[in-house]
Amino acid sequence: MPLHRHFTLTQYLIEQRRRFPGASGDFNALILDVALACKSIARDVALGELGASVPTDEAVNVQGEVQKPMDVISNTTFIRTNEWGGHCAGMASEEMDGPYQIPAQHPRGKYLLVFDPLDGSSNIDVNVSVGSIFSVLRAPQEVIDSGRDVTEADFLQPGAKQVAAGYALYGPTTMLVLTVGAGVAGFTLHPSLGEFMLTHPRIQVPADTQEFAINASNSRFWEGPVKRYVDECLAGKPGPRGKDFNMRWIASMVAEAHRILMRGGVFMYPRDTKDASKPGRLRLLYEANPIGFIMEQAGGRASTGRQPMLGVAPSSLHQRIGLVFGSKNEVERIERYHAEPAKSERESPLFAPRSLFRD
Ligand code: AHG
Ligand code: MN
Ligand code: MN
Repeated sequence: MPLHRHFTLTQYLIEQRRRFPGASGDFNALILDVALACKSIARDVALGELGASVPTDEAVNVQGEVQKPMDVISNTTFIRTNEWGGHCAGMASEEMDGPYQIPAQHPRGKYLLVFDPLDGSSNIDVNVSVGSIFSVLRAPQEVIDSGRDVTEADFLQPGAKQVAAGYALYGPTTMLVLTVGAGVAGFTLHPSLGEFMLTHPRIQVPADTQEFAINASNSRFWEGPVKRYVDECLAGKPGPRGKDFNMRWIASMVAEAHRILMRGGVFMYPRDTKDASKPGRLRLLYEANPIGFIMEQAGGRASTGRQPMLGVAPSSLHQRIGLVFGSKNEVERIERYHAEPAKSERESPLFAPRSLFRD
């Protein structure tokens, strides 16, 4: 395919920047550094067991989860690629307990970069798609002016404050999906040019869907509104929804998000009662917020079930949260179910419909 058929990521960013004549170019340079990190991780992931010098020890991260060697490698790649350019005031990652300080030999910039360097890493050993997720926030003005070390509090900004968010998906092709707050664009990595080419301009999530994604092995821990929603989907054509639904579960949230951006659907990792210390499985700052921003920019919706995700005021760097996102009408339905009185208050148990996931 001739090059002129597609814009490169660099060209796309230059066009976006033209909307802000005063912009310094720092932001574009930051996104290009993130894209470089993703290209490097794509190569490492593609090499699999053939990759050189893969550490064999499995450590445990701050979340108490086993770190795969590729979790550690991807984290280091993100840091090394983004620490030197003078665009970042600091970074935070799933794989690091606290904020990462830009080393003294490098200039400090105005952005905070937050990332999940490898999402779905339990899939890496079975050769199933994984990805990287990132979120860009503006550092507080006082941090920019003083150049001081960043603290956890500097990162605790609601998702609505994100300047940009995106993910790379390492699948049959490597893709970068990006929002800079003006819609969502998808780029495919041209393997021989080494460039992300704009292949999916203006991605839109269909408002309706007949496909949902949830880890049903947790069904006994679900709250009433989630049980009700899934029950109604499973009831299919003769049920209250009057149509059959399909189900998918990849266990790489980034891959589920991509499927939903391409053809619609709804994803749920809701708050549940499995572990009282964990209000949800996924993390607010580097999973729920960036994917939420992308969904909203693509005409979809992202929510905790109870409130819009992007309005949540974070309380800690690694905060977990219930997450529902995807096709707007389905997410709104799930929010409605959460807002309605509990099932026991709605109907007498005598006349309750039969349910696979009964309360
Ligand atoms: P990570 O690999 O960054 O820890 O994230 C994995 C997440 C997410 O990608 C996926 O949707 C979910 O964990 C899968 O959870 P289950 O193992 O409970 O299905
Ligand atoms: Mn993840
Ligand atoms: Mn991860």
